[in-house]
Amino acid sequence: MKIIESPEEMQKQARLLIQSGEYIAFVPTMGFLHEGHLSLIRLAKEYSDTVVVSIFVNPAQFGPNEDLDAYPRDFARDEKLCREAGADILFYPTSQNMYLDGHSMWLSEESLSTVLCGASRPGHFRGVCTIVAKLLNIVQPDFMVLGEKDAQQLRVLRRMVRDLNFAVKIIAAPTVRAADGLAMSSRNKYLTSAERKEAVCLFQSLEKAKALFAAGERDAETLKAAVRAVIEATSGKVDYIELVDDETLQSVQTLEKPALIALAVKFSGARLIDNTVLAP
Ligand code: PAF
Repeated sequence: MKIIESPEEMQKQARLLIQSGEYIAFVPTMGFLHEGHLSLIRLAKEYSDTVVVSIFVNPAQFGPNEDLDAYPRDFARDEKLCREAGADILFYPTSQNMYLDGHSMWLSEESLSTVLCGASRPGHFRGVCTIVAKLLNIVQPDFMVLGEKDAQQLRVLRRMVRDLNFAVKIIAAPTVRAADGLAMSSRNKYLTSAERKEAVCLFQSLEKAKALFAAGERDAETLKAAVRAVIEATSGKVDYIELVDDETLQSVQTLEKPALIALAVKFSGARLIDNTVLAP
């Protein structure tokens, strides 16, 4: 596995690979890899000759009071995991290389980004779209593999690729969960051991919604109230629980088409998200 730090060198390598007829699949990450990321790398291998993984903790997608400085980092461990999972190139740029002095070009999606995490984290998706557009220009992949756990990010980036004609196909990979159902996330590390036990409430609340839905419940308020009751039985504080149209991310009152139920819950040191699609 090659480690490349310079964007210019990465771009050069990508061009050589493309010239020699190789398909490139790309897994963008912020590092501190877990089984969820590794499943994306393994899926990327199925689509390509060369898998590029990027590790870059993107300052532009963190708000002023968020966890940028505390965000967990362990390059040596990440490097080993990438190698073992079969990555061919690890792109590991510095912040100075990705955001040159005087950087003044930003990319904003203006509809899907305004709700859910976009409403709680102003500027977050502007940071995500900008960095992913830059990474796509540098890595020039045929495929980009993203996790369904970040449901809104997946939909915003699909919109970016569609609306700006990026020549990449997005592959969505299912959420990887711990044995008790908690979705894998680098931020799970912030949970105290008591909170780690309670954090399974996100998964359990979604399971509750799924069971009600399977039994015929179609009223969004009733479904959201059931999810809230499961969360509020723990020390977790609801940031949002929303039932939205799976395509537009606009709120729905009655479920007639596939709907995304998405939630964000704050524990003392971590804000966790999870989601599921309820499809009639
Ligand atoms: O999902 C993430 O880890 C990040 O938002 C991404 C896509 C790597 C962009 O920084």
